Amino acid sequence: MGNELSPEQLNEIANEYGTPLYVYNADKIVTQYRRLTTAFQNDKVRFFYACKSLTNINILKVLKAEGCNVDCSSINEVKLALYAGFEPQNILYTSNGIAFAEIEEAQSLGVIINIDSLSNLKKFGEKFGSSYPVGVRLRPNIMAGGNLKISTGHDKSKFGIPVDQLEELVSVVKKNQIQITNLHIHTGSDIKDPEVFVKGIEVLFDIIPHFPHLKSIDLGGGFKVAYKEEDPFINVEELAEKVLHTFESNELTKDLQIWFEPGKFLVSESGYFITQVNVLKETSATTFAGVNSGFNHLIRPMFYDAYHRIQNLTNPDGTVKEYTITGNICETDTFAWSRPLPEVREGDLLVFYNAGAYGFEMSSNYNSRFKPAEVLVENGESRLIRKRDVFEDLLKNQVL
Ligand code: LLP
Repeated sequence: MGNELSPEQLNEIANEYGTPLYVYNADKIVTQYRRLTTAFQNDKVRFFYACKSLTNINILKVLKAEGCNVDCSSINEVKLALYAGFEPQNILYTSNGIAFAEIEEAQSLGVIINIDSLSNLKKFGEKFGSSYPVGVRLRPNIMAGGNLKISTGHDKSKFGIPVDQLEELVSVVKKNQIQITNLHIHTGSDIKDPEVFVKGIEVLFDIIPHFPHLKSIDLGGGFKVAYKEEDPFINVEELAEKVLHTFESNELTKDLQIWFEPGKFLVSESGYFITQVNVLKETSATTFAGVNSGFNHLIRPMFYDAYHRIQNLTNPDGTVKEYTITGNICETDTFAWSRPLPEVREGDLLVFYNAGAYGFEMSSNYNSRFKPAEVLVENGESRLIRKRDVFEDLLKNQVL
């Protein structure tokens, strides 16, 4: 794993900024990005950071400085990327289920667009014809990903234009002379097997000849990181070798660019979520350690049964016992069941590892609680990159 912030550093940062708190390590993000560029070492490959995983402008700037592009899933993400200084030609907007007006807005901003329905493609063709080249998101009918909630390429998924509707797709494209320059597939998140990407390319082999203006194939994101020490994770060197080999050994693909949209791989391990223990409750079944957070701040354990490694920052050498770590939300919000941890006392700080991706980003104000603050550690210095909410934030948009 490497590049970890130490428990001592995290402790200090929590003391300075308070909890609950998200902390990100810029060095780790840079390391992860360079792991990808080093593995692929090919100027036909472009990486677009899937910023839905973590949109803080300061994080976008870290990746921009490395030369990474950005992938957006809403028009507001597009605007955040522009705000962070990305050029429109380095911003990709992979839409799904959106109103045509949003596609028109993306077009007016000059960004690269992937359209994911025949309905919007028809409207796009009727309005823009061949004047604005676009990509299409296809549904390859491949099952992949860590669990059904994050699997997007299977034959019952809402995402993309099903490959079995190729004939209709080609007819819409021809009728409106749309220039399709990119074919996109994204099969899911938490993919550990590089073969899934190879299979995706193979599905496209029959489709590619129908699109003479093609410049790139976009294989989406989904590279798995290890949440547990013993977890499998994607081997990016093997991924690079297999994908490059598949592209280069086929006439159809050998001159095309290869695009990827990693989110988790770039930012997950850079992130730490620090909470404080409010209450200990001994029961016959378990000892609950209730922290000053809940699924309003980190929903992954409750929503996906995701495992996040936890450490007691303030009593690392305590005698190990089992604790059920819960939040303070008025619903069952269990972060971890029966987790062995060095003795937990009220006031101790517990850190959740691997919280950079889809942590803060999926947080809410449920139970009228404040969203956490965010801190970035860069070149050994920590700085606040988002203030904790204050009471006025809860009232800000309410009309009295
Ligand atoms: N490209 C597209 C079109 C996507 O839909 C996604 C993720 C990505 C790229 C980036 O996938 P990644 O590399 O981050 O796995 N909230 C869930 C993950 C949802 C992923 C949604 N789409 C989680 O916390 O596991």
